[in-house]
Order: sequence, then structure tokens, then C-alpha cells
Amino acid sequence: RTVYVNGEYLPEDQATISIFDRGFLMADGVYEVVSVLDGKLLDFEGHMVRLKRSLGELAMDNPLSDDEYLRAFRALVEKNAITDGLVYLQVTRGNPGDRDFAYPPAGTGPTVVMFTQSKPGLADAPAAKTGWKVISIEDARWARRDIKTVQLLYPSMAKMEAKARGVDDAWMVEDGLVTEGTSNNAYIVKNGTIVTRALSNDILHGITRAAVLRFAAEAQMQVEERSFTIAEAQDADEAFITSASAFVMPVVEIDGAAVGTGQVGPVATRLREIYLEESR
Ligand code: PDD
Repeated sequence: RTVYVNGEYLPEDQATISIFDRGFLMADGVYEVVSVLDGKLLDFEGHMVRLKRSLGELAMDNPLSDDEYLRAFRALVEKNAITDGLVYLQVTRGNPGDRDFAYPPAGTGPTVVMFTQSKPGLADAPAAKTGWKVISIEDARWARRDIKTVQLLYPSMAKMEAKARGVDDAWMVEDGLVTEGTSNNAYIVKNGTIVTRALSNDILHGITRAAVLRFAAEAQMQVEERSFTIAEAQDADEAFITSASAFVMPVVEIDGAAVGTGQVGPVATRLREIYLEESR
């Protein structure tokens, strides 16, 4: 693979960053994941808007223009012959030359890293036909989940708990209400109405979420942005998640209870179709 580090394209085994990089020592960095379908980047502009917001919230410099990011993304897709897959982008505060809690002086960083992952047949994931099973788990993350930081240890622990229990993912719950999945936004459908938690610092503002809610409104579907409980989700007609890498993925079981018929439902199926049609 050819990867990108601070303006250079290198074979992955020659790409290096400092052990003092604050991304490594402090998880002081942000990231974006952009899907590639048929060689085309999905929702690139939306991801750039969120990247700049994440950087701004952490008072971190944005090292490149949107155009420079776009050129680098396209160069990586081409150099690695990616048809379906994703581009990962990470910006960390860089290398101050030592460990210190205080941010280094301006001009120290940032460190920019980009790489691709090839996922042939990404849009035809078999799981979209059968749906995911999820468990619920306490949301023990920090309080600024709206910032897309690389501090992903708790979601990783939750994912491992899901795997240990033989399911696909975990829905995190705070004060009795579902926040989101380990790396996706969560939805239920009841009597034709799509329900998903409103935007706040409690969840990541999904780029796929914004697109799907726009398409749902255009298709005259009812949407309610409010929180819901696990019990309400288990009692719903359908459930699903959205993310840049899974698009729209049905959820058919929550904590061992079938959602609706326990089969993939029409609303999730339709939204997935619309999302894939509109974003290609
Ligand atoms: N995760 N919520 C969380 C906690 C996420 O990590 C993600 C994305 C989302 C969905 O956001 P979007 O639709 O913009 O991808 C929601 C990415 C895909 C990841 O970490 O791989």
C-alpha cells in the first residue's frame, strides 16, 4: 500500500511518525473515514466540514485546504487502485519533542496521515440482507462525543464485549437512553416514523445520518429527532444504524429480543437503496 504522511506518498513500511507525537501519547488527534464506491468518494464535503469543526473544537491548526485533502484522497485511491473501500484521514497535534500535558507552541504540528483500505463489494455486504444483532452497554465515553477524536478505547471495549457475546455491535446507553453504536448512529422505526437521537455533544454528528435524514424527508417519511430507550427499540417495528463504512445497516435483534419480525424491514431496506443510489 502507498500511504500519505505529511505531504509525502510512501510505501506503508517506510512511513514513520515520532514516538512523541501527541496522537500517540495523548490521543490528541481527530480523524475522518470516507467511503469509496466505484472509485468515487462519498460525501467528501460533509466530512471536510466535520473535520474542520473537530479541529476547531480542539484549537488545532488545519494543515491543508479542502482541495489539498481532495487531491491527496484521489491520489491514494488511484495509487492503490481502490474501487470499493475507504480513505482514512488522521490529523494529530504533532510532535512537541517531549511529553507534556500543555499543548505545544503554535507551529509544532500537525501530523497528517492518510491511508486506504480496500473492501471489494462494500455496497453488497451480505449483512445488509440479514441485519445486525446488537447488545446494549453503558456509555462510558467522555462528554465530547461530537468531536471525532482518535480516543476510541471505550468503543473498542464495547465492540469486544459484543463479539464475546456473539453479536455484531453494541448500542451505548446513558441515563437509560440510547446514545449511538460503537461507530455508528442508531435509529428505530415505529408505525412508519423514523426516530433517532437529536444532535448534541452526546453523539457524533454523523455525515451519513445527515444524508439519510435528508433523503427520508425527500421521500416524505416521518422523522422524529429524540432519544429512545432499549425497551422502546425492542418494541419497534425496525431498527438500523448508519455510518460512512456500513451505510444503512438493519438491526434485527437487541439484547436477544427480535425487533419487529426479526427480519430486515422495508424502511431500512429502502433507505439503504436510496442512500446508495444518491451517493454513487
Ligand atoms: N465511525 N458515531 C460514532 C461514534 C462513529 O464513530 C461514527 C463513524 C458515526 C457515524 O458517522 P458517519 O456517518 O459520519 O460515518 C457515529 C467511523 C465510520 C469509524 O470510526 O470507522
